[in-house]
Amino acid sequence: MTLTLKEKPTYSVLADIYDIVMADVDYETWADYIDEIILMHQPTARSILELACGTGTIALSLEELDCYEISATDGSPDMIRIARQKAAKANSEINFQTMNFLNLSFERSFDVIYMVFDSLNYLHTKEDIIQLHKEVKNILNPGGIFVYDFTTPRNSRKAIRFLNNESKTIDGEYRYHRESSFNAKERIHTNRFHIEKLDETNGDIIEKFEEQHQQKIYTLDDIQSIIKKTDFEVVQAYDGFELKPAHKKSLRVTMVLK
Ligand SMILES: C[S@@+](CC[C@H](N)C(=O)[O-])C[C@H]1O[C@@H](n2cnc3c(N)ncnc32)[C@H](O)[C@@H]1O
Repeated sequence: MTLTLKEKPTYSVLADIYDIVMADVDYETWADYIDEIILMHQPTARSILELACGTGTIALSLEELDCYEISATDGSPDMIRIARQKAAKANSEINFQTMNFLNLSFERSFDVIYMVFDSLNYLHTKEDIIQLHKEVKNILNPGGIFVYDFTTPRNSRKAIRFLNNESKTIDGEYRYHRESSFNAKERIHTNRFHIEKLDETNGDIIEKFEEQHQQKIYTLDDIQSIIKKTDFEVVQAYDGFELKPAHKKSLRVTMVLK
């Protein structure tokens, strides 16, 4: 029997295996880092909103601190489906909703809005990044902060060495293979996931899928000049997961805006 290869939207089939694909990511430390930033820049914050929350790992980790009232959204219904399953298991009170961050719809506002793990890099134009800032400004309380990270060309050049041709079989249920490439001229980082759903009894391939993820890679100068066109000002640009200023060689930059 020949199997048809199904091209899928980003974060649809991948949602089911996302947490395993990201098993090496230290989300707990990342959540602590966001908490540290909040304590430093908006210490009285109570209400927080995560954008592009994926399967909800950071929001669920922050909830364990028992300090915040948390809402979380992502554009992918499949990522939100997994986040809700995890929330139900953890008896979480987080309200996970599917929502495009370029069209946020809330009747309320928040003290902190944050977004992590390259989600900004899914925006390919300056206009979309400005739109995101507008959407956030509409629902940020006075004195609130907007925190997000982005990855830099230096990070893409390094990352393809270990992301390209990565393969794994997951619980005899799925197998994936990732091809990763970076077009330095266009500054486009492409991750192509080939995902096979397996018959758990005999390992035969039941279905084959592909998802292509393209991210635009920005420098600190790019992002700073875009922010100048928004109503936000930069409070700090941090290097990676440090509370030290970002610099030209930063692999990831975390922006804190007011
Ligand atoms: C690299 S994942 C990060 C997910 C999560 N923050 C984490 O740390 O695991 C990027 C996420 O951005 C979301 N995303 C991309 N474009 C979006 C948009 N326009 N609106 C909302 N979410 C979006 C994707 O659905 C995906 O869950």
